[in-house]
Amino acid sequence: MADIFTSRDDEKTIEDILHKGLLMGKAPKWTVMRLALARSLRLPTPPDEALDQIGTRGSEYGLTQVTGQGQGRSPFGQQQDFTDAFRGMLSIHSGEDLFADEKAFVRHLQRHIRRGLREFRRGWRDGHDFYQYLYQELCAGQDQNPTADTSDLGERLVAALLEIGVRGEVAETIDGPRITRCLVRLMDANHLDRVRRGLDKIAFVLGLHKFGVFPAETGQPRMIGLDIPRPRATWKTLSGQDLRAWIRQDTQPNGSLPVWPGVDVTGQPVCFDLSTQPHLLVGGTTGSGKSVCLHGLLLSLLIGVAQERLKLVLIDPKKMEFGLYAKAASKRITVLTDVEDANKELAGLVEEMERRAVTLEKAGVRDLTEAHRRGVSALPFLVVFVEELADLIMQVPMAEEHLIRLAQKARATGIHLVIATQRPDARVVNGMLRSNIPSRISLTVQKSTESKIILDETGAERLTGAGDMLIRLSGQPMQRLHGVYVTDDDIAATLRGIGGA
Ligand SMILES: Nc1ncnc2c1ncn2[C@@H]1O[C@H](COP(=O)(O)OP(=O)(O)OP(=O)(O)O)[C@@H](O)[C@H]1O
Ligand SMILES: [Mg+2]
Repeated sequence: MADIFTSRDDEKTIEDILHKGLLMGKAPKWTVMRLALARSLRLPTPPDEALDQIGTRGSEYGLTQVTGQGQGRSPFGQQQDFTDAFRGMLSIHSGEDLFADEKAFVRHLQRHIRRGLREFRRGWRDGHDFYQYLYQELCAGQDQNPTADTSDLGERLVAALLEIGVRGEVAETIDGPRITRCLVRLMDANHLDRVRRGLDKIAFVLGLHKFGVFPAETGQPRMIGLDIPRPRATWKTLSGQDLRAWIRQDTQPNGSLPVWPGVDVTGQPVCFDLSTQPHLLVGGTTGSGKSVCLHGLLLSLLIGVAQERLKLVLIDPKKMEFGLYAKAASKRITVLTDVEDANKELAGLVEEMERRAVTLEKAGVRDLTEAHRRGVSALPFLVVFVEELADLIMQVPMAEEHLIRLAQKARATGIHLVIATQRPDARVVNGMLRSNIPSRISLTVQKSTESKIILDETGAERLTGAGDMLIRLSGQPMQRLHGVYVTDDDIAATLRGIGGA
């Protein structure tokens, strides 16, 4: 009997993982489905009800396969029926008694399996080690006490410093979500420079591989902070729930378009006003966390900014990321996946910018924020997100000219750009565009030259990946942040919450 249904995308994921990930082509498909269940149970939020809708049908499975129902024990005496174990886990996760309601159990099971498969699809890439990926996804952050593995870090750091001829002691350590900051008091204040120059060697001696040790100012003479990444199993992931809590607790919002990209190294949430930045370039290699970062910024705006004050234009030539927003599309949100349509929209925005400039000038105000404050205009802010700049401008070169014009002139009129790219090279990120987008976020990149294109500095090639970022807002020093891990469920819940879905 069929209990669990999958979509065609789910089936492809199952096949890919069996053949290219687990390298166990002959193993039964439920092997992957059970792993998907485990993956989904690691997310604290309930899976979205939208997962009940299958779209293009893939295949169907009975509980005999998926949970081993009625299978009893194997000839070697091993338990093969995990139905009640799964039922128990899902009951705890959902807070419902799924022993009493068979239909609800099967519904929850399908949602979790399909969500887990979706996570695999987004998070694992063919060619990467699936076992390594799975270990990290299932075990990372399990340890709620991230001080666990750092007991001897101070000693190891003092020894590493000696290797570069510096004597010092660790005065204090602060454990952030991923990084331990060691405050090191140097015997000789003249050695500060030697430490800064020797960071790569320190990282090497500490066995950090390509991850870097970053310096942090302490404001005290002879004292330097050294930010040292911990093993992934001790990381604490920042969730969409954290994001919602920060926004709720923010009684005096930071400007007109407050956004919360993540937390600093010590775990303090960071907020900035997009309307003053006024545009943002987000770069990083594939799988570094750009899209997740954009979703975090989008949810910040959708939750934190009054409906009538905000319009979003989401351009996604890859057709990968903004599907949920497209379903919720309204006057407030426009999603464009066709590059020609996107180009037309951008041309329209350039005209809108010109019209707004005239209106604001007539009203005698400097910018839209002032116009709102003085009650002379009710025009909404307009934020344009571009998921992949390269795909857009390679296909429609005109689009680049529109973006440059907007970047040059749109700030006062309340039109702001957030542009992401996987390919931070001079050909894609044209000098004119770059010089008019003063604020930058770099997630992990492969080469230091890419870090330079995004941030004008090296460093992003030494980040730890998965939402670890360097951010440089206009007129401020560079800061390291860890991004919020926004999931599709967070997005769906937010869109429902604002009545967009
Ligand atoms: N803030 C975060 N915390 C923990 N894990 C994260 C975070 N951000 C991203 N990840 C992990 O990295 C994976 C890839 O993220 P994402 O899809 O945003 O990458 P991307 O840079 O957009 O890649 P691409 O360029 O291929 O589109 C996620 O599925 C998740 O597993
Ligand atoms: Mg992406």
